[in-house]
Amino acid sequence: MVFMSRRCFFAAFLAALFLFPLSLQAAPSVAAPNATPKEGALKEGVLLVAFGTSVPSGLPAYTALEADMRKAAPGAPLEWAYTSAVIRKKLAKQGRPVADMPAALEKLWQDGVRSVRVQSLHVAAGEEFAELERLLMLDIARHPDRFEHVFLGRPLLESAADLDAVTTALLGALPDRKDGDAVLFMAHGQSHGRADLVWTAAQADLSRKDARAHLATVEGAQTLQHAMDAMRAQKTSRVWLQPFMVVAGDHANNDLVGAEDDSWASQLRKAGFEPLPHLQGMGEVPGVRAVFVRHALETTDDLAAFARETHKDSK
Ligand code: CO
Repeated sequence: MVFMSRRCFFAAFLAALFLFPLSLQAAPSVAAPNATPKEGALKEGVLLVAFGTSVPSGLPAYTALEADMRKAAPGAPLEWAYTSAVIRKKLAKQGRPVADMPAALEKLWQDGVRSVRVQSLHVAAGEEFAELERLLMLDIARHPDRFEHVFLGRPLLESAADLDAVTTALLGALPDRKDGDAVLFMAHGQSHGRADLVWTAAQADLSRKDARAHLATVEGAQTLQHAMDAMRAQKTSRVWLQPFMVVAGDHANNDLVGAEDDSWASQLRKAGFEPLPHLQGMGEVPGVRAVFVRHALETTDDLAAFARETHKDSK
């Protein structure tokens, strides 16, 4: 079978990204679901896979990410999948169901997609991403004849260049700070996993660029106490609080700025700081979204080809 070469696909994507941004912005935001591919080309589709959120304040980040992906892949069918079963259940109960990954892949296949770009919307390749990768391989093994290509786009922070782009974008998107104001980012963290090291690197990069930028984690090794010690040493009084998460969802609303005694805002207030909420998900920052989109376009990690090759070898 003849199909559009990968290089050709990239060239089309890159041209779409950089050469015609204005015309693309004017394009309808909803992709034509039955867009027929050029003769001989495989129909391309996009699958965005996120942890998920059930909190309305989380949605602007996802909406903006989807819009940027549609601009980068005009006309390509696009589906969402949430990896969190708890959140999917909650949304289904509210009458706003979101698919899991197998269902979203099935939908794309039924829409005629034969080459799919699966983009992780996770921050780091931790346990959620590992599960995504395993589920994807499992789905390919179960349906070996479905997709010619299944490209997997890596999470946000995969390289030093990604980290540099993200921290620069975030520091450039802060509210106007008074002299001496600190900013404290809340990352998720994962104290028992290697992904925690990504947030350690993020903290180092942020504070190298801005001495008053700090990062701590909800479930990781970098505790709020560490950040408070550092801010106290700098004689900080006002502290902007911002999520270092893709969406400003449950953790942001409750653990970061919630009214409970154990929220970071409450703990900071008790310790004599003045917390100032800035609930902007990282996905609301264009420079952060650009990294996700780049990962979706650049990946050459074709899991379908890998499965075919492995299968051949084992025969
Ligand atoms: Co969590």
